[in-house]
Amino acid sequence: MAEYVGIDLGTTLSGLAYLKPDGNPEIVPNADGERLTHSVVFFDSHEDVKLVGSAARDGGEPDRTIFQIKRFMDDPEHLVEIDGKKWTPAEISALILSKLKRDCSKICGDITEVVITVPANFNELARKSTIAAAEMAGMKVKRLVNEPTAAAVYYTHSQGVKGRILVFDLGGGTLDTTILEVEGDNIKILTSEGARHLGGSNFDDILLDAYAEQYKKQTGAALYSDERHRRRVLQATEDAKKMLSKLQRVNDTVANDQNSGIARIDLSREHFEKLIRGMLTRTVFLVEQALDSAKLKTSDIDHVVLVGGSTRIPKVKSMLEKMFGKVPKSCGNVDECVALGAALFAKKSSRIQEVCNASYGTLAMVYNAKTKEEKLMNSIVIPKNTPIPCSRTQVYQTSEDNERVIEVDITQGEDEDAKFVDVIGRLTLDVPPNRPKGCEVAVTFSYDENQRVRALVVDKQSGRSKEVAVTYKGAGVLSDEELKRRSHHLRAMRIE
Ligand SMILES: Nc1ncnc2c1ncn2[C@@H]1O[C@H](COP(=O)(O)OP(=O)(O)OP(=O)(O)O)[C@@H](O)[C@H]1O
Ligand SMILES: [Mg+2]
Repeated sequence: MAEYVGIDLGTTLSGLAYLKPDGNPEIVPNADGERLTHSVVFFDSHEDVKLVGSAARDGGEPDRTIFQIKRFMDDPEHLVEIDGKKWTPAEISALILSKLKRDCSKICGDITEVVITVPANFNELARKSTIAAAEMAGMKVKRLVNEPTAAAVYYTHSQGVKGRILVFDLGGGTLDTTILEVEGDNIKILTSEGARHLGGSNFDDILLDAYAEQYKKQTGAALYSDERHRRRVLQATEDAKKMLSKLQRVNDTVANDQNSGIARIDLSREHFEKLIRGMLTRTVFLVEQALDSAKLKTSDIDHVVLVGGSTRIPKVKSMLEKMFGKVPKSCGNVDECVALGAALFAKKSSRIQEVCNASYGTLAMVYNAKTKEEKLMNSIVIPKNTPIPCSRTQVYQTSEDNERVIEVDITQGEDEDAKFVDVIGRLTLDVPPNRPKGCEVAVTFSYDENQRVRALVVDKQSGRSKEVAVTYKGAGVLSDEELKRRSHHLRAMRIE
């Protein structure tokens, strides 16, 4: 049995690593001999097989091929319908995890318990969906760990970096930047900032537009007319993007599927850098935000550590070098270090102090002395960057006479304005009748080490209380019974 296993469930690529008896982590290849598995699922219509990985990527039937499901893990309404069956993002992810578990266990022994990584800025719902996905694939989640944290664990183990570190993780779908302090085996996370929908696949899309423009100019025709062909060209643009990380110039030829002729694409690295400049500026902005949030200057950072396949782009490295005045550190396997770090994390080889990744609070009517008006505001109970696990209490007062039900909206977000935060859950508590307004209600939020939040509300006068984990409703969220039922089905499926 593999005792310490870490899985990086990535937007574009997923990897599994285990800890060898000598204490070093190692990537376990899948049954196709690949160290990393493309996070793509193809639902075959002939035999009842789910293909996962590069074979799925080349399947060619876009309606039956699911890419980048990780981007929807926080969407309670997202469902994928295939042959009349509706799949939740957690179930699709479970198919990817099942392939990893089945393939890799043939090499490293049975896999029952794992550490899974998630982007630092993954919200509650996305974390819950990730745990559900693992359970459906027949694995217990020992811990969720943030991707940059896992990467930092690997770097400190393998490269011996210490001091104040900024991890810059630019993958296929997300940017995560985390600042942490490393002293011996102690890792203290200071802050994380991130953006979803900012990663390599956005660069591929931009290049696709550039290809389509050149094609139109040369042939007068559209480069693609359907999703199937668009996918094909997208793979070509991803290949060209990777070549541009090594070469100054790339020549390519493309054709559409309507016999409109062949166009020669001539692309320079300089032009590519211009095309992605806006996105790179956004990454710089997020790094600045992380520094601000930790009250640090660029000169306070001892090492900048690169993680994620998109940090192979030379401009990304030079941009960070210019910003920090030092060469960023990178080990060759930027796309493997998250899984490797997760395997190390499974053994708790370092002591890690993490912080909560967002502020949590509740919506409350607040009296404004200036305007003499009451306004619904977001009242923060646990501020972002509070070391976790933690628990904080705030006392509120009922705002109406004879209030029978106390409603607590649980919010996630930094803004005071209720409009700009997400309401991630609601808790209701029945209280006795005929009470004047102003009764005290204590709201306690607890935040656990998997970065999941619970809320407890106590009506002080009656002593009544209720505690809940944040729960979500939506078509893409499975109840516990449904989860069990579907995981049973999933285990009987042919997944290759
Ligand atoms: N040489 C290269 N030059 C440019 N981009 C590259 C290169 N190699 C890989 N990439 C890009 O890196 C991305 C994959 O990186 P990685 O495996 O770190 O992402 P991921 O873990 O799947 O995504 P995320 O962390 O966002 O969930 C892809 O978009 C890929 O095209
Ligand atoms: Mg990644």
